[in-house]
Amino acid sequence: MKIIKTIKEMKTVLASHREQMKIIGFVPTMGYLHQGHLSLIGRARQSSDIVVISIFVNPTQFGPQEDLARYPRDLKRDEELAEQEGADYIFYPDVSEMYPEGYKTYVLVEELSKKMCGASRPEHFRGVTTIVLKLLNIIQPHCAYFGQKDAQQAIIIRRMVEDLNLDVKIEVEPIVREADGLAMSSRNSYLKAKERKAALVLYHALTLAQKLIKQGERNSSVIISQMEKFIRQEPLARIDYISIVDNRNLQELALINKEALIALAVYIGKTRLIDNITIQG
Ligand code: PAF
Repeated sequence: MKIIKTIKEMKTVLASHREQMKIIGFVPTMGYLHQGHLSLIGRARQSSDIVVISIFVNPTQFGPQEDLARYPRDLKRDEELAEQEGADYIFYPDVSEMYPEGYKTYVLVEELSKKMCGASRPEHFRGVTTIVLKLLNIIQPHCAYFGQKDAQQAIIIRRMVEDLNLDVKIEVEPIVREADGLAMSSRNSYLKAKERKAALVLYHALTLAQKLIKQGERNSSVIISQMEKFIRQEPLARIDYISIVDNRNLQELALINKEALIALAVYIGKTRLIDNITIQG
């Protein structure tokens, strides 16, 4: 496995693989890899000749008060994990390589980027789509792999790929959870022992919603208020949002009568965590 830091070298290396008709799979990450990332790399390994992952903590997707400076980083460990999982290249550019002086261009998927996580993180998805488009242009993969934990991100990226006629397949892989149900996230590393326990409210609120739906409840506001009531019992938790939306276009659903995404963001202490489930209508 090779680490590549410049766009020029990354493009040159991949151009020669492409000439040899190799299938290129790509997993974009911000590093501090966990089992969720490794499942994406494993999936890419199954379907590609060449597997590229990127590790880039993208400043444009963090708000001014967010955790850019303290975002966890450990390249040595990431290298070992990515290699074990069968990655061929890590694209590991500096910020100045991706956003050189004078950089001015951003990509925004309208409407979808302002809802849910976008309501409390107004610039976040603009930063995500900008960096993902840049990475897709550099790597030019046949397929790129994303995790369902960032469900809104995946929907926005699919929209961008379709709207901008990009020649890449987007695959979204299921959420990987800890044994007790907590969705894997690099940000789980911020949680102190008490917070780690409290963080289970996200998963338990989602399983409560699932149970209510199984019992026949279809009214979204009833389900959301039950979830809110449940989460409020946890003193370390503060709800950012709970949404029940159409799983293709993020339109709010008053009634669950088609494939729905139930998504939430909750602060546990200072750490903002997200999770979701999908429900067949
Ligand atoms: O999901 C992430 O880790 C990031 O948002 C991504 C897609 C790597 C873009 O920075």
